[in-house]
Amino acid sequence: LGKNAIKRILKEELWEASRPKRIQHQREKDKLKRAERRKLIEDGVLEPPPKRQRRPEITLANTNIVLDCSFSDKMIPKELQSLQSQIVRCHSANRTAPLSMPLTITSFDDAFEKVMDKKGGSWTNWKNVKFERKSYTELYDKKDLVYLSADSENVIHELEEGKTYIIGGIVDKNRYKGLCQEKATKEGIATARLPIGEYLQMASRKVLTVNHVFEIMIKWLEHKDWEKAFMEVIPQRK
Ligand SMILES: C[S@@+](CC[C@H](N)C(=O)[O-])C[C@H]1O[C@@H](n2cnc3c(N)ncnc32)[C@H](O)[C@@H]1O
Repeated sequence: LGKNAIKRILKEELWEASRPKRIQHQREKDKLKRAERRKLIEDGVLEPPPKRQRRPEITLANTNIVLDCSFSDKMIPKELQSLQSQIVRCHSANRTAPLSMPLTITSFDDAFEKVMDKKGGSWTNWKNVKFERKSYTELYDKKDLVYLSADSENVIHELEEGKTYIIGGIVDKNRYKGLCQEKATKEGIATARLPIGEYLQMASRKVLTVNHVFEIMIKWLEHKDWEKAFMEVIPQRK
């Protein structure tokens, strides 16, 4: 290796090693800023922000969505990064939707934590999202689980109370066809696909991205109508 290449590698390693410190520093800075702002509001210098509207109650009691992140070793760095963006989209859709569902990220490992950290540490403060090292089989009763898979023979007609729906946390351009269906079958977990073909006759893609599946489910909660939910989430061909 040339002198410049060694220098560059050392610089990258130093930058990488200082990541936790930088995140901590940013968090402290943000905390200080919030405290200063609170003080200014208390002293009457700043107007208090308008009170947030209370969010309506979740209608489906005990219905959860799990994102199974046990596939880190099957993705290249670019795909892992893309999964991170899709999770950010899920969170933001859940945050702004009139009705939402708690999201639990399972099998959340060090490799993926690093990917999440790359865009800053704000994910650690997300509400309504839990990050679990454990697998869903350790957290839920198998009989309440439904693994969503485009390869399933069963079709979902409605989301049921008390059920936990699992989305496979993978970006693979369908390289691993049937992966999630096989995993669930091996684990003795029910599977189901969204009624995409039934509602979108022209749908060219039956395998959707993680965030599209999540957003469709959230939209279904709002409209109780799959067709409407699909149309609002999946961009239609002109
Ligand atoms: C990009 S897909 C992963 C494709 C992967 N080859 C597999 O075996 O599922 C991400 C996840 O979205 C969900 N998904 C995608 N399309 C779906 C559909 N039509 N019905 C139900 N779930 C779907 C599944 O949970 C899937 O694991």
